[in-house]
Amino acid sequence: MTLKKIIIAIDGPAGAGKSTIAKKVAASLGYAYIDTGAMYRAVTLSCLTAGLSLTESAATQMAQGIKISFRYEDGRNQVYLNDHEVTDAIRSLEVSRNVSQVSAYGGVRTAMVAQQRKMGKNGGIVMDGRDIGTVVLPDAELKIFLIASVDERAERRYKENIEKGIPADLETLKKEIAERDYKDSHREVSPLKPAEDAITFDTTGVSIEGVVEFIQEKAKKIIDKG
Ligand code: DC
Repeated sequence: MTLKKIIIAIDGPAGAGKSTIAKKVAASLGYAYIDTGAMYRAVTLSCLTAGLSLTESAATQMAQGIKISFRYEDGRNQVYLNDHEVTDAIRSLEVSRNVSQVSAYGGVRTAMVAQQRKMGKNGGIVMDGRDIGTVVLPDAELKIFLIASVDERAERRYKENIEKGIPADLETLKKEIAERDYKDSHREVSPLKPAEDAITFDTTGVSIEGVVEFIQEKAKKIIDKG
């Protein structure tokens, strides 16, 4: 008997633990993992590298013309932009500061959502982002909406940055996270919000393993039902 391959959508604000958790859930089920935030970051990076002003028409043209792909290499998920590896470059401060603006453009979203639907259509996938359960893959069998307090999310980012040798200031991170939340949830196109049938999980004070186990159990129940 072949097991049913489901779609798992994991949405939520920045720093709620989505990517770490989604990666682990995907690995445990043998599923592919797609980080849609990385795709908006890749569009932003290519606009900045090309020296474009970040208008909707320039960013949309860029989004329509570039190829973004994910490859699992050397034990980690690598992001490629037109066959150049940009895994670390898309995490730069400059990209982080401009990605909310670029990802709010309707034209950019249309181009990215089309690519994301193609990647997800056969199931066997864990996709994380802001609008996966609401817009990209509304038929996903399992939708999880992860949240956590601003303080905890800022502390997680702070630790991540320090570990990577990126200079960080906790108060600045808190301010940036709160601002990004506001922009992401108040934009006109696909604002950040849970799908009606999503399970909201507050990860404040919960270990990564605890969240991963919760999602695995939910997924297994759906897979076992066939
Ligand atoms: O998850 P992240 O911080 O890498 O996401 C980067 C930006 O992209 C963030 O401002 C929200 C936006 N984003 C989005 O609008 N829709 C998605 N599906 C994923 C990310």
